[in-house]
Amino acid sequence: MTRLHEGHVALVTGAAQGIGAAAAEVFAREGAKVVVADAKVDGGLERVESLRAGGAEAEFVEVDVTREDSVAAMVERCVELYGRLDCAMNNAGITDPMHPFDELTLENWERMIAVNLTGVFLCMKHELRQMAGQEPRDGRRGAIVNTSSGAGIVPAPGQPHYTAAKHGVLGLTKVAGSEYYARGIRANAICPGVTETPMVRQSIGFNQGAEEKLRSTVPGGEFGRPEDVASAAVWLCSEQARWVNGQGLIVDGGGVMR
Ligand SMILES: NC(=O)c1ccc[n+]([C@@H]2O[C@H](COP(=O)([O-])OP(=O)(O)OC[C@H]3O[C@@H](n4cnc5c(N)ncnc54)[C@H](O)[C@@H]3O)[C@@H](O)[C@H]2O)c1
Repeated sequence: MTRLHEGHVALVTGAAQGIGAAAAEVFAREGAKVVVADAKVDGGLERVESLRAGGAEAEFVEVDVTREDSVAAMVERCVELYGRLDCAMNNAGITDPMHPFDELTLENWERMIAVNLTGVFLCMKHELRQMAGQEPRDGRRGAIVNTSSGAGIVPAPGQPHYTAAKHGVLGLTKVAGSEYYARGIRANAICPGVTETPMVRQSIGFNQGAEEKLRSTVPGGEFGRPEDVASAAVWLCSEQARWVNGQGLIVDGGGVMR
């Protein structure tokens, strides 16, 4: 038995690679039709090809989550393709080299906030509008899961902008969870620890000694796998989590305990 109802429609941003790509696969395995959304066209199309090869229904939509017109068009395209939107994972994000707080430029700050916080706000705005206006299915109109981070709970060293954005994602999640639950929509977040993805490889490339530092944040020194995070995210969107709302679920092997 799959964890999602037959024909559920799932939209995942940042799904060309890393955690989003793994989530697209888990959503498909659990019975959803999947919209793979990303700024990277080649990676997104490859992802769709691999999902289809596994027997899933999937489509690619190019999106820049920092632009409202692009986000609105993404949600519209999803509805045009599959008729509705049941599960949305707002996961697209970027990283940046470590900066001492007093050396972080306004440009770096603004870029990070644009993708990792404003991008989530814009996606949620258009997804909530669609979900709130659609007919309930099995009494539910939709479920949202945002990708925050351990840095949404504790500070990431050298990353004031990333930390602020990820804390903000939890704030948006709580507001949506409190305002839309009565209308049949849940909103939650996942807070992954260091997970083996292209982003982490990039961040190790940026900063000397980063790999050791990152490994020291994970119990046993072993990074998580994208599927570890993806399966928790899909569970949060499933009926099994029907009474979980407004939460940030830490998925990190126990590195951060709250
Ligand atoms: N990997 C980790 O250790 C880790 C830990 C905590 C949180 N996270 C968060 O998980 C999410 C996914 O991270 P990942 O490690 O898989 O990263 P990744 O870099 O491997 O994948 C991120 C994806 O987001 C896409 N993207 C970036 N900017 C975009 C934009 N403006 N519009 C549309 N798509 C855009 C990229 O093209 C890429 O495909 C991010 O939000 C990240 O902050 C990751």
